[in-house]
Amino acid sequence: MNGTMNSRRILLIIGGGIAAYKACELVRLLRKQGADVTCVLTEGGAHFVTAMTLAALSENPVHTTLWDLKNEVEMGHIQLSRQADLVVVCPATADLMARMAGGIANDLATTLLLATDKPVLAVPAMNVRMWHHPATVRNIATLRGDGVSVMEPDDGAMACGEFGPGRLPEPIAIVEEIARMLGLCASTSSARSGSGESTDHDPARPEPVEGAEPVEGAEPVEGCLAGKHVLITAGPTHEPIDPVRYIANRSSGKQGFAIAAAAARAGARVTLIAGPVNLDTPQGVTRIDVETARQMSAAVEAALPADVAIMVAAVADWRSAGEAAQKIKKDGSGQVPPLQLVENPDILASLCQSDRRPALVVGFAAETNDVLDHARAKLLRKGADWIVANDVATHAMGGEINGLHIVTAAGVESLPELPKAAAAAALIERIADAIA
Ligand code: C5P
Repeated sequence: MNGTMNSRRILLIIGGGIAAYKACELVRLLRKQGADVTCVLTEGGAHFVTAMTLAALSENPVHTTLWDLKNEVEMGHIQLSRQADLVVVCPATADLMARMAGGIANDLATTLLLATDKPVLAVPAMNVRMWHHPATVRNIATLRGDGVSVMEPDDGAMACGEFGPGRLPEPIAIVEEIARMLGLCASTSSARSGSGESTDHDPARPEPVEGAEPVEGAEPVEGCLAGKHVLITAGPTHEPIDPVRYIANRSSGKQGFAIAAAAARAGARVTLIAGPVNLDTPQGVTRIDVETARQMSAAVEAALPADVAIMVAAVADWRSAGEAAQKIKKDGSGQVPPLQLVENPDILASLCQSDRRPALVVGFAAETNDVLDHARAKLLRKGADWIVANDVATHAMGGEINGLHIVTAAGVESLPELPKAAAAAALIERIADAIA
């Protein structure tokens, strides 16, 4: 036991899915980190793993029913839900999350989830169609809106023979997420090794940023955003014209994703709302994929409250006034179909005016000329605290390098030209300083 989670108390709720067997490995890894794990096994979960196995691995009694007189006298279910530092639901089945989203308390697990005053992490696992079902999508949005952290499931082959997202993330990734939620960034590297053996990398420091140049003060202090919820938008939006055509822009999402990765490394709970991009989700980041500006706007609203918002997305300013239900055809007459545009909601400006405005709101500005003048004007017009400007005439959108200018009411700080990961780390460090 290497003790990076020493005496942190985790209440682990095990739902009824084939992935329940992985919860046993999760218990083992958490114990290895020194965590105190108490398991709650649902009726469904008990079809896949036994209370005996979990009790042996956790070295604690396992709770299975609301109607246990002995347990209720010794420790009521309210106390059980409150004595933990973190409640983890793993696997979180579609049914369990539906009941959580609906506030239903019809067994021990859901009663504890309704009664708890502690952060909750749900680790979903289910069939790919169940994962994509609108009811599940709706329930997950509700849970996230209620402040529950919901991990993204892994992609791949499933026990049911189908393929796609829905697989339980690897236990080691769950341990890392738990460490982050407990504000223990330092535990992530040792958790990854899973053995407690020493590695070249000092676990008291975050992993180095890939491709980062050593820039003085560019590496955020580990844990400097612990306990903070950082909301980030990234990538372009696609605005449909008809079922096959859309309006888009050249944003790659790389800078926003690098900022999300840096914020997670700094210990924040990160919600990344991503337009259509071809990028992997950074470790420890909760990602919500959207396509249009209106979907992005709704997802931002659902993700509130947040301590910091960093709006990096290149949101399309306009969308087609109407989306044709069928492909618009060339009729050979040479007539060009009229394309009427309407303005999209300004997500950043609305957020700044919202009564749930985060304490620090950072906008981005991609400009081809008069970069600083446009950024200063945008700061006032949008009501943001900072505008981070970059010159997209010098560095084409989608590139690997950025020269950022942080424009605030107090003045401008221009960072050197840096790989996007290093620029992200420098920005996160300044954000952590600002909200400390
Ligand atoms: O107005 P402009 O697009 O230049 O402003 C850029 C900033 O505003 C970025 O932070 C971008 O994410 C945000 N924005 C937005 N909603 C829009 C347009 C831009 O949130 N409809």
